[in-house]
Amino acid sequence: MKKWKIALVPGDGIGPEVVAEGVKVLQAIEKLDNTLSFEFERFPWGCEYYIEHQKMMADDGIEQLKEFDAIYLGAVGYPGVPDHISLWDLLLKIRKGFDQYVNLRPVRLLNEELTPIKNKSEKDIDFLVIRENNEGEYAGAGDWLFKGKKEEVVLQTGVFSRKGTERIIRYAFEEARKQQKSLTSISKANALNYSMVFWDEVFEEVGKEYPDVKTESYLVDAASMFFVMQPERFEIVVTSNLFGDILTDIGAAITGGMGLATGANVNPERNYPSMFEPVHGSAPDIAGQGIANPIAAIWSVAQMLEHFGEEEWGSVVVETIKEIIDEKKVLTPDLGGKHSTSEVGDYFVEKIAGKLHHK
Ligand code: NAD
Ligand code: IPM
Ligand code: MN
Repeated sequence: MKKWKIALVPGDGIGPEVVAEGVKVLQAIEKLDNTLSFEFERFPWGCEYYIEHQKMMADDGIEQLKEFDAIYLGAVGYPGVPDHISLWDLLLKIRKGFDQYVNLRPVRLLNEELTPIKNKSEKDIDFLVIRENNEGEYAGAGDWLFKGKKEEVVLQTGVFSRKGTERIIRYAFEEARKQQKSLTSISKANALNYSMVFWDEVFEEVGKEYPDVKTESYLVDAASMFFVMQPERFEIVVTSNLFGDILTDIGAAITGGMGLATGANVNPERNYPSMFEPVHGSAPDIAGQGIANPIAAIWSVAQMLEHFGEEEWGSVVVETIKEIIDEKKVLTPDLGGKHSTSEVGDYFVEKIAGKLHHK
């Protein structure tokens, strides 16, 4: 029996609402497969915790999470606590603290009716964005000079280390080779005359070791247009932290919205736990109403299962999501349905149990 220890960090707003549904799915799988078991521990960290304790997580929070096989996170950030504090002291702290330098964000259309783009079908929108997740524009380096004075100047410095840039690009080439797909680098060397010139050089250099991988290189502005107009150009994309953040919200938009987009924050060396979470945030505009779409969070459970080596279960979860979307019977309002978050989760469990996937 394989036993996986999962740390739950439901966080803020709709975070706990969608994480509850992902946990239901894992518990359903555990019932169907007697070779698997999941043990959960819940950490109450987030903005409410901050208001009570003046900190986003326990002082030894990173230490506490270290012993888990995975972290399952909902969302962080809520009005009342400045975003740069809440995110830096919890979400970004985990990503950086555990060297989760690979952010895997699939952009996959499950049903052509979900895309706002004309004449695009499932086969046209099916790619993987590999986002650098630890440094770059999110290095947190900068300065605030002459605050409040007329000479005021604010610096936000991007940091692109040789190690950080090379390892993400190499990871992407390995993935492209494994999947026999093309690899597109998205950068902006025409304007960012240090960081992106370096990025492009490293992409070219590492690419020499992978003559079998077909490559493309786009500027991020043009790439944003192609994401919308010709998404079929992309198979595997590698890009920097900020560009990857923005591009994957475009990715969500072309595949059905924030309620469907998933992401895995991976430490490939497995020295530390990886973290699985939806791409969306805490959605204060709909929090507490029980109408958040749990599918993004459930899809991140599929990514977690793949990470555990349970690829078969990962595929079952994604197939089940597709069936639910195709049926259009039990959906949340963002997808035109009338059902609640927990009704979608319950229906998912009912469908997956119907598959009787005993091992
Ligand atoms: P958001 O993703 O929370 O919401 C954007 C829009 O998408 C909203 O209209 C929201 O209702 C909708 N939406 C998001 N998830 C949905 C779901 N599951 N079902 C249905 N609709 C959904 O982005 P925002 O409003 O810019 O940010 C809100 C807060 O979340 C901020 O504090 C921000 O910093 C934080 N944030 C956190 C994460 C994270 O923890 N990974 C990600 C993004 C934003
Ligand atoms: C995301 C989020 C985070 C990011 C924020 C909340 C710091 O937008 O996971 O996409 O920019 O990485
Ligand atoms: Mn984002």
